[in-house]
Amino acid sequence: MAAGSLLSGRTDSGGGRQIPPISGEEGFYSGKGDGTIKGRLFGFAIAAFLLLGAVLFVLDQNNRIDAETVNVSLAGLPDSFAGFRIVQLSDLHGKTFGENNTRLLSEIREEKLDLIAITGDLADDPAQFDAMGALAAELTQIAPTYYVTGNHEWATRAAPALMEILEKQGVHVLRNEYTVLRRGEDRLVIAGIDDPNGPKDQKTPEELTEEIRKAEKDPFIVLLAHRNSGFDTYADCGIPLTLAGHGHGGLIRLPFTDGLIDTDRTLFPQYTNGLYTIDGCSMFVSRGLGNVGRTFRLFNRPHLPVIVLSPAA
Ligand SMILES: [Fe+2]
Repeated sequence: MAAGSLLSGRTDSGGGRQIPPISGEEGFYSGKGDGTIKGRLFGFAIAAFLLLGAVLFVLDQNNRIDAETVNVSLAGLPDSFAGFRIVQLSDLHGKTFGENNTRLLSEIREEKLDLIAITGDLADDPAQFDAMGALAAELTQIAPTYYVTGNHEWATRAAPALMEILEKQGVHVLRNEYTVLRRGEDRLVIAGIDDPNGPKDQKTPEELTEEIRKAEKDPFIVLLAHRNSGFDTYADCGIPLTLAGHGHGGLIRLPFTDGLIDTDRTLFPQYTNGLYTIDGCSMFVSRGLGNVGRTFRLFNRPHLPVIVLSPAA
């Protein structure tokens, strides 16, 4: 018997006829079984590596703050308010960035600010109210802080309790009302509206702007409003600049779209990120900072815009 036959197969006792190897035998002798196990382990390691990478990417997309400075040119802005800087916090949904929001606060402290605007959906649950009060206490130390409600505060059925907590920390809560900032002879009106999820008999944006125009001579209005979808109304009112949120950037941002899905589950929504203009009236929309329920962000990091006002040339 040739030595090679011992390894390559068996012979019968009669005439040296080749008998094919028993299933698995060839692998046992040739070491291919080891290769299969190694191959499977390698495949598993690659899959685990890709899964870990995907998890880390999604965590980064939902937790690393995107601080953006946006220059907004506005016709009619009083000269003294050129360079006025507003940081907008929108749609936090009770999220905290680091213990006691240290990461969020440190990003805000890096900016030289004139005003902090919180445009609604600060909390989804009364259990988050104390943390939001602690955040408010720090914000009001940095700059005058203004707040309007979003739909989620009203959904908690405890919105007045949150507003009380915020006001105790020095936040100016604007419920279909306004305040006037003065620099010499120049004035800037900061107005704010309650979310439509609030009381049904509340003042409308049209009524509020009419009231402002009756009381103030040539007012330059910056409106804080949670809903991005109200842009047509804000423009109809002739409001030069509105700061809004609510759209969460369309959750997943895709090329050539304004996000994939709105918070009301509309596909390919509009007005979810950045500056929009209708008939000389502008609306800046923050993509927001937090998430609702099991939603998550992709290519759409938590947004912390700093809006810098400048007079249009
Ligand atoms: Fe909202």
